[in-house]
Amino acid sequence: MKKLWGGRFTASAEEWVDEFGASIPFDQELVLEDIKGSIAHATMLSKCGILTEKEAETIIGGLKELKEKALKKQLEYSTKYEDIHLNIEHMLTELIGPVGGKLHTGRSRNDQVATDMHLYLSDQVAEIAALLGEFQETLIEKAGDHIETVMPGYTHLQRAQPISFAHHLMAYFWMLERDKQRFTEVLKRINISPLGAGALAGTTFPIDREYSAELLGFEGIYQNSLDAVSDRDFILEFMSASSILMMHLSRFAEEIILWSSQEFRFVELDDTFATGSSIMPQKKNPDMAELIRGKTGRVYGGLMSLLTILKGLPLAYNKDMQEDKEGMFDTVKTVKGSLKIFSGMVKTMTVNTDNMKASVTKDFSNATELADYLAAKGMPFREAHEVVGKLVLDCIGKGCFLADLPFEEFKASSSLFEEDIYEALDPYNAVARRNSAGGTGFAEVEAQIQKARLLTGLE
Ligand code: ARG
Repeated sequence: MKKLWGGRFTASAEEWVDEFGASIPFDQELVLEDIKGSIAHATMLSKCGILTEKEAETIIGGLKELKEKALKKQLEYSTKYEDIHLNIEHMLTELIGPVGGKLHTGRSRNDQVATDMHLYLSDQVAEIAALLGEFQETLIEKAGDHIETVMPGYTHLQRAQPISFAHHLMAYFWMLERDKQRFTEVLKRINISPLGAGALAGTTFPIDREYSAELLGFEGIYQNSLDAVSDRDFILEFMSASSILMMHLSRFAEEIILWSSQEFRFVELDDTFATGSSIMPQKKNPDMAELIRGKTGRVYGGLMSLLTILKGLPLAYNKDMQEDKEGMFDTVKTVKGSLKIFSGMVKTMTVNTDNMKASVTKDFSNATELADYLAAKGMPFREAHEVVGKLVLDCIGKGCFLADLPFEEFKASSSLFEEDIYEALDPYNAVARRNSAGGTGFAEVEAQIQKARLLTGLE
């Protein structure tokens, strides 16, 4: 078969080599973006008098027809035409004749492919931001139901201080809020047009890049043609924002997995988001949470892979850059899927408030309350820490908890203790009182949820 660049070549292509070089098996995902970019380009060429109105009309008509077919999944791609750009150009020429060949005036596949990817990511990132918003709403709703649900808070995975379950959920709300901001920030740099940069050096045709950028909804154009066709930092930024988001989801997933174990029994996942075992009838496995934790690895992998592909590439375009696509598509799919699943999982999970509460009653997570109590009465905190430490040791020896000690024992360790000590030891009170800004006190958590509602437009 004669290639588009056949003029310069003597030997004809070999199929197995073509297959290795082709990107059509995966870049067909960009078909709508490719057609959209071409329509804008043709419109601009005609406005600038480079194509006649008639030519542009014929080309755009053909492209629209191809778009209809693409939407109906009726286009048949071939590795003979390497990538989505050449496939579409070939189909267009078949459809409207040689005038189809004029579409490529004043552009190259190098600025074309970059344009397609900017268009693609722009839509996808907006969708991801919307999914993040939906997940945040789920968290707000769930947190709203559990402001006064008291649970153990951990450091080093050791019980530390009792907290509100809503507070724990809202911690993830704020992480996702920053994730959303990061994606929105990346959008600014995705929304720049490389179209018209040509192969690397611009073109001699009197094109209007600002105009085609405007037609495509971009906010501006790349100021340097070499930069426009050779950088992929907009994808890297997307992938790094995705990696950070997945890291957050993975931590949350890990907690859901722990919480649904028999050792914790803090939550029970809805059957939809769990699976059974083929051999152990009692099992209910948190597969979806585990998968999200696992998929975090592939998203990091995508980022590392693209960083490595770009490292050391001389300007401008190099075929290495064709390797930028699969990781990008995979990251988009993984992030969108993970967000949808996670939101559904949290929405439908049952919270075992009694188990959470029982855990904080039978532990030493109220020890800080006791130290704070003494410190509030004037004892230096370090000394108070020592006094309480001894009481804890005493309890461990006796096999009881702080609230089980008779009042005389408190009094014997410090004269500052009064009968109200038992109120201070109550985990519910311990949480209720922590109303410093951003603390876990019920009033503060309520205020936090209110702020979150305003931020997400729920109110
Ligand atoms: N399929 C190519 C890619 O994805 C398109 C650009 C090809 N340009 C070139 N000069 N070979 O990177």
